[in-house]
Amino acid sequence: MEPILEVRNLTCGFQTQAVLKNVDLLLYPGQLSGLVGPSGSGKTTLIKAILGLVHPWAGEIWFQGKRLKPGTAPPKVGYVPQVETVDWNFPVTAQEVVMMGRYRKKQFLPWTSRHDRIAAKALLERVGIAHVAHRPIGELSGGQQQRVFIARALVGEPEIVLLDEPTSSSDLRVQHELLHVGASNKKRSDQQ
Ligand SMILES: Nc1ncnc2c1ncn2[C@@H]1O[C@H](COP(=O)(O)OP(=O)(O)OP(=O)(O)O)[C@@H](O)[C@H]1O
Ligand SMILES: [Mg+2]
Repeated sequence: MEPILEVRNLTCGFQTQAVLKNVDLLLYPGQLSGLVGPSGSGKTTLIKAILGLVHPWAGEIWFQGKRLKPGTAPPKVGYVPQVETVDWNFPVTAQEVVMMGRYRKKQFLPWTSRHDRIAAKALLERVGIAHVAHRPIGELSGGQQQRVFIARALVGEPEIVLLDEPTSSSDLRVQHELLHVGASNKKRSDQQ
């Protein structure tokens, strides 16, 4: 089977300090992989490099058999940021944050369709927080904020989802549920 994502010999960092040196990574369709390492070891940096947010000093990133131009994200990727790094003073509701995940499909048109709103609502239900859909994101608990971002990552029907510590603020039951939402999302879209 061909890998869906391949990182080859990636070296990158900040200013003059290398964080990742000669990193290789292969991900295959249908695979659930975890990345572990101590705080500050470069897990978030690797995700950001795959998303084109950190420029590689050397190395290549391939998606579905095509090399990505440095600084560009794979076309069908969902991303859940580490909650500690998000600015929660942003004046938007949970549902509006989820709908941001559909902009790529519509070439960033600044309005949303009824279909987008239904898709956003359905995903908020799937992650168990439909009742906070119209509350400002900054007023939600850490675990609820993470679930909003998981819904945002899935609502664009991505081929791969990169999650940066997506369950760190959730209790064990919710962690278990969330790790199954992504898998069932893929099955559902395959059936359509
Ligand atoms: N924007 C930045 N500018 C300068 N240095 C940075 C920046 N972002 C991260 N670093 C440094 O890069 C290194 C790796 O950070 P990174 O956030 O990738 O670690 P991590 O493995 O995700 O850690 P954690 O488990 O705490 O989230 C750290 O030494 C960090 O200080
Ligand atoms: Mg991190």
